[in-house]
Amino acid sequence: MSQKLIAPSLLAADFANLQRDIEMVNNSDADWFHIDIMDGVFVPNISYGMPVLQAITAHTKKIVDVHLMIVDPDRYISTFKKLGADVLTVHYEACTHLHRSLQAIKAEGMKAGVALNPHTNVSLLEDTINDIDLVLIMSVNPGFGGQSFIENTYNKVKQLKDIINRKGATTIIEIDGGVTKNNAKLLVDAGADVLVAGSFVFKSSNQLETIKELKALANS
Ligand code: DX5
Ligand code: ZN
Repeated sequence: MSQKLIAPSLLAADFANLQRDIEMVNNSDADWFHIDIMDGVFVPNISYGMPVLQAITAHTKKIVDVHLMIVDPDRYISTFKKLGADVLTVHYEACTHLHRSLQAIKAEGMKAGVALNPHTNVSLLEDTINDIDLVLIMSVNPGFGGQSFIENTYNKVKQLKDIINRKGATTIIEIDGGVTKNNAKLLVDAGADVLVAGSFVFKSSNQLETIKELKALANS
C-alpha cells in the first residue's frame, strides 16, 4: 500500500465530548477511526459497547476500524456490521477457529483483521495470511491506552512483511499502542501501513496538527 494511514483511537477521546472529538477527526488528515471494544474478560478493562458505537458511527465520515478485544468474537460479527464497522479485527488468541471467523467477517462484507498480542509470534499466521486483509500488531499489551511502546515490535513488523511478500499476500499491517512521532517513521520503514494513535493525538494541545504531523512523518 503506497499511502500510509493514520487511525486515531477514540479510546483516548473525551467521552463527555465525543461528538466534538469525532468531528475533529472528520476534519483532520486522519484516514480511519479506530474503535476499541473490550469485554473485561479477554483484557482486564471494559471500554464501551454497542449503544456507544451506534452513537459514534452516526457521526463518523471515515472508515470505521473496530478492534475487538473480546472472547468468542464470532457471536457479534453481524452485530458489528450493523453498527457500522468497515474493518473488523479479532484477536488470534481469542479465536479457536480463526479461519472460520475470517470467513464470517468477509461474508458480512467487512475487511477481516487479525490482532496479535506482544507474545504471539507472527509465524502463526503463515497458513492464513492469504485470507487476512489486515494484521494488527499490538505494540503494547491490549486493554489500556497510554502505555509505552514495546521495541520488539519493529522485528515483528519486518518478520510479518517477509511472510506477506513470500506468500504473495495483499495483507496490510497496522500498529496499535504507544505510537508517537518518535516511532511513526521507523514503523513505516519496517513495513507498517496503518498507525493507530490514541493518547498521542487526543492528549496533545493541537490535535489537528498532531494528526497532520503523524501523517506527514508516516509518508516521508
Ligand atoms: C489498547 C488499544 C489501543 C489504544 C492505543 O488496548 O487497542 O487502540 O487506544 O492507545 P495509545 O495510542 O494511547 O497507546
Ligand atoms: Zn486498538
